[in-house]
Amino acid sequence: MKSPICAMLGIEFPLLAFSHCRDVVAAVSRAGGFGVLGATVHSPKTIEQELKWIDDHVDGRPYGVDVLIPENISTAGEKNVTWKSLEARISPEHLDFTRNLLKKYDIELITTNVADNQPQPFDAQTALDLLEVSFRHPIRLIANALGVPPKAMIEMGKAHGVPVAALVGAKEHALRQVAAGVDILVVQGTEAGGHCGDVSTMVLVPEVIKAIQDIRDVPVLAAGGIMTGRQMAACMAMGAAGVWTGSVWLATVESETTEIFREKMIAASSRDAVRSRGRTGKPARQLRSVWTDAWDKGADSPGALPMPLQSIISRDAFNAIDRSAAAGNARARDLVSYFVGQGVGLIDSVKSAGAVVQEFKEDFAEAVEYINALVAE
Ligand SMILES: Cc1cc2nc3c(=O)[nH]c(=O)nc-3n(C[C@H](O)[C@H](O)[C@H](O)COP(=O)(O)O)c2cc1C
Repeated sequence: MKSPICAMLGIEFPLLAFSHCRDVVAAVSRAGGFGVLGATVHSPKTIEQELKWIDDHVDGRPYGVDVLIPENISTAGEKNVTWKSLEARISPEHLDFTRNLLKKYDIELITTNVADNQPQPFDAQTALDLLEVSFRHPIRLIANALGVPPKAMIEMGKAHGVPVAALVGAKEHALRQVAAGVDILVVQGTEAGGHCGDVSTMVLVPEVIKAIQDIRDVPVLAAGGIMTGRQMAACMAMGAAGVWTGSVWLATVESETTEIFREKMIAASSRDAVRSRGRTGKPARQLRSVWTDAWDKGADSPGALPMPLQSIISRDAFNAIDRSAAAGNARARDLVSYFVGQGVGLIDSVKSAGAVVQEFKEDFAEAVEYINALVAE
């Protein structure tokens, strides 16, 4: 395909797959898409292991790495913030609310032990260190979410000849990213799983393309709600150079999702993917559960804390919820949740990642034929 993204990334089909799971990344790239590994949960040591594994399993196909460096975070400007120092900032009210909520479902909240020097979640310096390590591997793309990437990240990309992508959820954000010098815009509508804005993909993609066209030629990847090759074709008909997907890979055999979450995805409709601050402190789309209802609508809710404090609360809580549900506590299922977009309503089974890429290609070709037939004489 003659999309500028194909030329930039060395691929033939501009289907990008974001995943926290190395198996998905390698499988998508092997099948002719482009896997992007989410690095937020890694340390420089563990990312080295993950990328080494991908190199050994990707058959020389290209892949990328994604970090998350928030521009707006409650610890902005503070130096050397550790995970432990943040734990001390969580109010007893928030801890009691979490502990009592879990207790109602027979789940015990256990605080995970972290090393004294473990950096805070979403630490910018850690993200840059992860990228340094990543550049020892043949990565073909780096991406950042939740704001304009730091200058150092854009410079790293330029020094290595690797394009820098940035996720945006509003036209204003896209304009700032173009001014900062990013090479690719991931234009993500509110349908998306994870952190998202409030404008739909259908509107945001043409809005951004129109806003940037006279400034600089920056290819746009459409994101948010894209689960099929037909939707991919629709986005490219709107001017996108390809698509960036996340939720569709959660329902693959390779993914990190638990059996219970997979069952819940299959049972869910699009309206079950809600935008809530309950998981990270910023609005993020996730599967509605007792957890999101309690934080968003509970009469006794103390309200979610800002990022990164809410992530600290929810990490321990979801470790406990998932463990308890897997051990057979049927009530814990009501709390089980994970980031997923409105496209969850289209998930009806779990397939291999390779099969999903193949279906995207076939579906895309059918969509093109369908439109061609409509306009043929
Ligand atoms: C489980 C999950 C975790 C995500 N985590 C991140 C992340 O750490 N960094 C990031 O840039 N985007 C993250 N995203 C957003 C994806 O990169 C992507 O933009 C989004 O999934 C696209 O919408 P879709 O889910 O409807 O396909 C995540 C999405 C999901 C579903």
